Amino acid sequence: MMSLQRTKLFPFFIVLVSFTCSLSLAMSSNQLEQFASEEEVFQLFQAWQKEHKREYGNQEEKAKRFQIFQSNLRYINEMNAKRKSPTTQHRLGLNKFADMSPEEFMKTYLKEIEMPYSNLESRKKLQKGDDADCDNLPHSVDWRDKGAVTEVRDQGKCQSHWAFSVTGAIEGINKIVTGNLVSLSVQQVVDCDPASHGCAGGFYFNAFGYVIENGGIDTEAHYPYTAQNGTCKANANKVVSIDNLLVVVGPEEALLCRVSKQPVSVSIDATGLQFYAGGVYGGENCSKNSTKATLVCLIVGYGSVGGEDYWIVKNSWGKDWGEEGYLLIKRNVSDEWPYGVCAINAAPGFPIIKEVASSSAI
Ligand SMILES: *[C@@H]1O[C@H](CO)[C@@H](O)[C@H](O)[C@H]1NC(C)=O
Ligand SMILES: *[C@@H]1O[C@H](CO)[C@@H](O)[C@H](O)[C@H]1NC(C)=O
Ligand SMILES: *[C@@H]1O[C@H](CO)[C@@H](O)[C@H](O)[C@H]1NC(C)=O
Ligand SMILES: *[C@@H]1O[C@H](CO)[C@@H](O)[C@H](O)[C@H]1NC(C)=O
Repeated sequence: MMSLQRTKLFPFFIVLVSFTCSLSLAMSSNQLEQFASEEEVFQLFQAWQKEHKREYGNQEEKAKRFQIFQSNLRYINEMNAKRKSPTTQHRLGLNKFADMSPEEFMKTYLKEIEMPYSNLESRKKLQKGDDADCDNLPHSVDWRDKGAVTEVRDQGKCQSHWAFSVTGAIEGINKIVTGNLVSLSVQQVVDCDPASHGCAGGFYFNAFGYVIENGGIDTEAHYPYTAQNGTCKANANKVVSIDNLLVVVGPEEALLCRVSKQPVSVSIDATGLQFYAGGVYGGENCSKNSTKATLVCLIVGYGSVGGEDYWIVKNSWGKDWGEEGYLLIKRNVSDEWPYGVCAINAAPGFPIIKEVASSSAI
């Protein structure tokens, strides 16, 4: 289960350790369904606190957090019990967000994103990327295996997922074009994109536009991430530049084709993903015909398992969320999802570097 497609990037022992941790918590929560004494749940809570080094200022706060934890645990058990296919369908777990209520979580991580493309003027400026060479696509693609994806990082309590998506997409195309994987500055995008709102959120169309207009972006090493609003640094280097931003317009095949060529920025409604612990997420808790977006992330590949087709999505909530920081989300679904599961196909965007645009050999 652990390694549908991850074998190379992470040392085996990390996989083993995280698997063992989630297994022990999962086992205790199964036992809780049978015994369910508050004392046992409290012990589990304390073990969880220790594991996540979570301390509370006073007893009142601890009691409040325990209430929320209990309610989340009930929810996690309920949702896991409803799974139809335990081998492929997504599962929930007691992760680091287990002491946050869904409302708090939404406020801290998932503020609804204003989609700039609903504004006609900005939409007109966007150029559509037309792919010619889309026949015989591989059955699966994983840009991580090709060394085009940097490590999953943790945005912290700064809603900068949009900036992580933008740097991730540029890191990908830069590696594909130049052969170098360079970790780029998320903080620069947070501080400097005038059309976004720093840690209060943003969208990738604007942020790619900033990088284009600025003539490039600095490295993470020179302009490191702080998880806070900051002032735009005048001495930022221009290490990697991009020439344009294009959008994928059309049915899912168009997105599949583009992902076979490079990592692609997308937005989704992530309302159901607070406790996501792995497996293929089928869009439970997303409304089918809406383009609502609460999280911007990066598709880094696609594949299939047990008859389920999925996208591999890089998130910025740390490696201790999901499948070592990644989400598998269902693709190739019926027309009931006009924008794809959780609207993942509502507005995909990707940067280009000229060499790629003029060649179809990638
Ligand atoms: C960060 O800056 C944005 C405006 O760009 C503002 O809306 C937000 O409140 C700021 N966040 C913090 C934590 O200061
Ligand atoms: C997700 O949907 C289920 C019903 O399918 C509901 O019980 C649950 O509260 C929803 N969760 C969130 C986080 O909205
Ligand atoms: C989505 O579907 C529901 C019911 O099927 C309908 O009431 C609603 O108007 C639709 N919304 C959009 C944005 O198409
Ligand atoms: C989509 O699913 C169908 C079967 O339901 C399969 O034949 C087809 O190859 C899939 N398409 C892609 C692009 O994976």
